[in-house]
Amino acid sequence: MLVLGIESSCDETGVALYDTEQGLLAHQLHTQMAMHAEYGGVVPELASRDHIRRAIPLTEACLAEAGKQLADLDAVAYTQGPGLGGALLVGASIANALAFGLGIPVVGVHHLEGHLLSPLLAEPKPAFPFVALLVSGGHTQLMAVRGVGDYDVLGETLDDAAGEAFDKTAKLLGLDYPGGPTLSRLAESGDPARFSLPRPMLKSDDLDMSFSGLKTAVLTLVRHQEAEHGSIDPQTRNDICRAFQDAIVDVLVGKSLKALKQANMARLVVAGGVGANKQLRAALDALAAKGRFEVFYPPLALCTDNGAMIAYAGAMRLKYAQPAGGYSVKPRWDLG
Ligand code: KG4
Ligand code: ZN
Repeated sequence: MLVLGIESSCDETGVALYDTEQGLLAHQLHTQMAMHAEYGGVVPELASRDHIRRAIPLTEACLAEAGKQLADLDAVAYTQGPGLGGALLVGASIANALAFGLGIPVVGVHHLEGHLLSPLLAEPKPAFPFVALLVSGGHTQLMAVRGVGDYDVLGETLDDAAGEAFDKTAKLLGLDYPGGPTLSRLAESGDPARFSLPRPMLKSDDLDMSFSGLKTAVLTLVRHQEAEHGSIDPQTRNDICRAFQDAIVDVLVGKSLKALKQANMARLVVAGGVGANKQLRAALDALAAKGRFEVFYPPLALCTDNGAMIAYAGAMRLKYAQPAGGYSVKPRWDLG
């Protein structure tokens, strides 16, 4: 079964072709980051218009990359939500029009289910069941995943998502949008011993998290440094980045271990944009090396938003679960 996947929930247009026998055949992506950078964040109307411009050329590029034609498609999957309403409608419209024209099924995919299943696109893939740490710009959740469509939320952030905390902290340190990856790079040159920030809710009994206080703690630290020294020199900024990253990684790792224990599972899957974070991966890899659990990640290029995870989740939905079809979008939509 050959499935075309279209992702357009935010600021990335992703299109991909997944074949249930041969795996991922093609994957094309256009990121709108540069376009939104001058506004310091995603402008929804600009995002929708750009998805319209990009989606069809990217689909053509995918078909060419795979040596396929529209007539070869067996189904079309698209991100049905959650995300920006207008942006979602672009993918939904194109997917439904293509499927209607070709007389094939269309399947609406939950964006987070795409992230959640994306480590199954890597080798070796995790077997079910596993705990998934979903850490993106919009969501931070720990989930028990027992199979396709069988998800339970174990815990989640009560305020900012981890990626959002990275981006907001980067912004208050004067880094360009989207600052998460830049902050993480600068943290590599930071001194871990210079500043220490709180680990919010690390010791709480549940699996919930909270990151907005951490951002406020960075703001307090920045103000203090500015009052004392007039400005923040580059090394001090790197040291603050390091302290922030150490705190957030500690919380994510601590809660993941607690989730594995609580769910009595021995496999952890990390997905979503923050899953690209090197320090988070290194910390989890070091613990997994002790042998008590295994950790799995999507291929690095598929950590952030992409069409491949939507094509894959669509294919799995068609194979194992009731597909959610129809022409609709769900800007707000809970998984599990
Ligand atoms: O999954 P994603 O592409 O989009 C959402 O569905 O939100 O995640 C984007 C988020 C952004 O907040 C970005 O700053 C963060 O992932 N991110 C990172 C890194 N790469 C991307 N955060 C920390 N370290 C990174 N290396
Ligand atoms: Zn995402």
